[in-house]
Formats: sequence, structure tokens, C-alpha cells
Amino acid sequence: MSERLYRAAVLHALDRERIEFIPDGCLVVDNGRILACGDCATILSTYPSAQIFDWRDSLLIPGLVDAHAHLPQLGAIGCDREDLLRWLDEVIFPHEARFADIDYTRRIAEAFFRRAIAGGTTTLAVYAPPHEDAADTCFRVAGQIGIRVLMGMTLMDSNAPAALLTDVDEAIAATDRLASRWHGVGRIQYCITPRFAGSCSRELLRRCGDLAKQTGLPIQTHLAESPAELRFVSELFPDCPDYTSVYERAGLITDRTIVAHCVYLSSSELDRLGTANVAIAHCPLSNVYLQSGLMPLVEYLDRAVFRIGLGTDIGAGYAASILDEARAAREQSKVRRMFGLATRIATMEEAFYLATLGGATAVGLADTIGNFAVGKYADFVRIEIPPYRVPTTAQQALELVLYTGSDNIVATAIEGELLWQRV
Ligand code: GUN
Ligand code: ZN
Repeated sequence: MSERLYRAAVLHALDRERIEFIPDGCLVVDNGRILACGDCATILSTYPSAQIFDWRDSLLIPGLVDAHAHLPQLGAIGCDREDLLRWLDEVIFPHEARFADIDYTRRIAEAFFRRAIAGGTTTLAVYAPPHEDAADTCFRVAGQIGIRVLMGMTLMDSNAPAALLTDVDEAIAATDRLASRWHGVGRIQYCITPRFAGSCSRELLRRCGDLAKQTGLPIQTHLAESPAELRFVSELFPDCPDYTSVYERAGLITDRTIVAHCVYLSSSELDRLGTANVAIAHCPLSNVYLQSGLMPLVEYLDRAVFRIGLGTDIGAGYAASILDEARAAREQSKVRRMFGLATRIATMEEAFYLATLGGATAVGLADTIGNFAVGKYADFVRIEIPPYRVPTTAQQALELVLYTGSDNIVATAIEGELLWQRV
């Protein structure tokens, strides 16, 4: 009998509004999947021969989803230049050039994924370096470590140092080769990754859109992040009425696309993105770090048409755990309300949802991860409960997880396998 029964408090999102909290709960895992999740009183007697892990000092939440991060920026966290485009030119592009070195790439990739897992992240949508060999190495490391990823080589053919650029044919050929080698291997999905309209020609964007259509692969890019970026893109694409239309014309706005940031979108753009069922990766810490702006999260949630998740946006962001982004999302919604920009703040339920089931929805995996529904993969995070603060209600559990949870993560499991434990 390979069933494992974890006895702990359990907190997970059933949907956007509903959270289930089971103070004396049990999670039963078999073959990497959730076999049961419920109250201990009933579960214990149903699985008498399961191997029991007594974790009553802990709370279990679903594995966290980071819907937007840059692997080759781990070593540049905190190197501030106070503005997106200046930071890209002065810090990030020179830093990403270092990934021509495969040994360096391997070391950073290992550190990046291990840091993510230690922060409770079990699924990541991530930009690999803009070099094919380095991207290939990142896939190999992700496979060895066992983290769930949607990842792609970052593509650029303009407005960056020559060492980071690939011409259009080469960019598509490299993407094709990497996708053929890695898509569907273990927990890996290939994600077509044109960096943003500021560093991709019309032709490159269009070829990425064509490839996505042919293959059905997911797409990730940046959209409407900062005022200067918006001006830059409108100079590059003067015939496009708005930023979203640059991607629409290229066939990049699909129900498998994740667009990061989305701080500045017109009502028309929001309508079109909603109709296309695009996913938004909200990156609150990055948006303030680079002084890009405060994304109108509550307005997007209230439109109820978007799939929304959270992104650390390493290295503009600096959080080791998506729980810190969830807290920042809520706190920034308070700032918008304080300054009369919003009528309400994001609830704790919403913040927790975004970090888990919302993120799973954003990366297109809500059928298999994001909460403890029976049959889903047993991706979970063990959070130690401080003895002076044992939660008895869902509200108390949410308060604990959102505001102190990232300090108390003690183990992370993917498909029931403990990939990291605090020693
Ligand atoms: N826009 C284009 N590239 C990047 C990047 O690496 N980080 C962020 N935050 N925005 C971008
Ligand atoms: Zn980014």
C-alpha cells in the first residue's frame, strides 16, 4: 500500500471566492495524486493502512504558482535603476550576456529552481536565457530537479546588444528545436517567449504567432508595463492603435498566452484581452520596484473575465515566495483605494486564490494543479504553525499564511515527492 496520509491543517481555494479550511485535516496521496482531502475524523478510518505523517504542527497549502519570472536575472536582483528601460539597458542585458557561459548557466539554473521550491513554488512560467545552448541547459536542470515549468528561450532581434539577438529564422528554428526536445518531457512544457514588442520586430512576433498556431504551444510576453515602454512601443509600431494590437496583429493574443504586468490598458484593450481569454501575470513587487505603476487588480478581478495569476518577475521582483507577491497584491490594492483609485481592496481570499488556483488557471493547468481536488497532482507546501498562533477559522488561517507564511515554509512536494525540506 503506497498511500500516504498527511495529518495537518489544510487550506485551499475551491474557486475565486471560496476557501476551504480544515483545522484537523488529512491529505491522502497515492501515486503522486490526491486520493482524498477532508476531515481527519472520517479520512483516518477510510484509509487504515496508509502511511501516516503526523504534521499537526503545520498547515498544508497547494503548491504555489509563479506565472512570470526570468531565470537569467537571479544574479541581478536588487540592482536598481529606477526605470524599466534604463534597467534593461544598464543591468539586465549585460547580465543576460553572461549566459553564453554554460557552467555559469547551470549553476544559476540550479540556484534559481531550488530557491523557487524553497519558497513553495511548484510551478513556474519562466524565461530562459536568450541563447539556445543556455536555454537547453536550463531545461535539463529543470528536468533533473523535477519542478513543473512552462519555459522558453527569450527571443529578441532588435534594440538589445548584438550578443543577445538572433535573427528571425534562427529564433524560430531554435524555438522549434528546443520545443521538440523538451515539450512534454516530464513536467516540462515549452512556452514560446518573444520578450516584448520593444525588442522583437514585427516579423519575429508574427512568426512566433504562426508557430503557436501550428503547434498549440503556450506563449509568454510582456504587455503595458511602464509609461516609457508604452511610448517606445508606439514609436516602433506607429500604425498600431494600442500596445495590445501589436500582439493581436501577430497572432499572439490567444487563450494560451500569458501577458505580464498589464498596468496600463485601455478599456478597449481589456475587452479584447478578456474576449481572447488571455492570462495576466500580476507582478506587484516588480511594478513598484521599477516604479512602473500600480496595476488595477480589483478592477480586473471585478471584470471577472481574466485568468489572473501572480509573478515574482525575478529580477525586477525580489520575492523568494509567491506568498509575498500575494501579500503585496493586497497591500497595493489598499494604496489604490487610499488614493481614490479603487472602490475596494483585494480580499485575502482573492490574494490566496491568485497564488494558487488563479496561478494554475493562468498557466493553463487548473485541471491538474492549484488545489486539493481529488485526482489532481499532490503539489503541496508545508507551513509550520507558530504555537502562539494556531488558526481555528479560515480567516485566521488566511491571515497567517498571507502575512507570515513565507517565513515558515518547511517543506515543498511535487506529485507527493518532497523536493525540499528545511533542515
Ligand atoms: N520587459 C522586457 N523585458 C523585461 C524584463 O526582463 N523584465 C521586466 N520586468 N520587463 C521587461
Ligand atoms: Zn518580466
